[in-house]
Amino acid sequence: MFDRRIVPQEPDRKYLTGVIFPSLLPLESGRILFVGCRSYTKPYEAVFQDSEYWTLEIDQIHAKWGARHHKTGDVRNADEFFAPGYFDLVFLNGVLGFGVDADHDQDLTFTALRRVMRPDGVLVLGWNKGRCSDPLTRPTLGAGFRHQELCGMPARKDFPDSTHVYDLFRAVGGSPVMEERRQGVSAAPALPR
Ligand SMILES: C[S@@+](CC[C@H](N)C(=O)[O-])C[C@H]1O[C@@H](n2cnc3c(N)ncnc32)[C@H](O)[C@@H]1O
Repeated sequence: MFDRRIVPQEPDRKYLTGVIFPSLLPLESGRILFVGCRSYTKPYEAVFQDSEYWTLEIDQIHAKWGARHHKTGDVRNADEFFAPGYFDLVFLNGVLGFGVDADHDQDLTFTALRRVMRPDGVLVLGWNKGRCSDPLTRPTLGAGFRHQELCGMPARKDFPDSTHVYDLFRAVGGSPVMEERRQGVSAAPALPR
């Protein structure tokens, strides 16, 4: 179903490819992780041709849409596949609510992603209202990431005729493990009160 829509023509997708990608290109040319692969995401590897571009997808059937550097696996366990602090930039778009659904799954995902990202690394989180909790309400996100505007883009971008939302973050702290210990489970949510 999802693949049958003309995804590249949707406003939120145009924002990803036409605004977010070009804005981040000059900033991050290191190691990039894109989670979740479909036919229309295959061309993204060429956009980041000067980077070490990885894809991670849980379903083996979609591995054909993956990059040259690809892993079949669960983003909730991303830290089992990649070394601590490995990535400069992570795209987690359209995965919450499409497999990573419950709050607990979000928590596992944010914790695992923080571990595989360097301090100050960028997380682009795209999700759909109505399919999952607002990720900014998750303490694990606030513990590992700072919600902020980036390269002229707002910290949160939503669209009048779409449920899609983009949130932008920087990974906080030094060692992800030490940061988790420091913040503990009582870390404040990223959402302003
Ligand atoms: C709606 S598609 C989004 C694809 C792409 N990320 C995008 O920007 O449109 C969701 C994809 O995420 C994959 N996925 C779902 N849960 C996952 C998980 N736990 N780990 C890795 N990939 C997952 C699905 O198999 C599917 O291919």
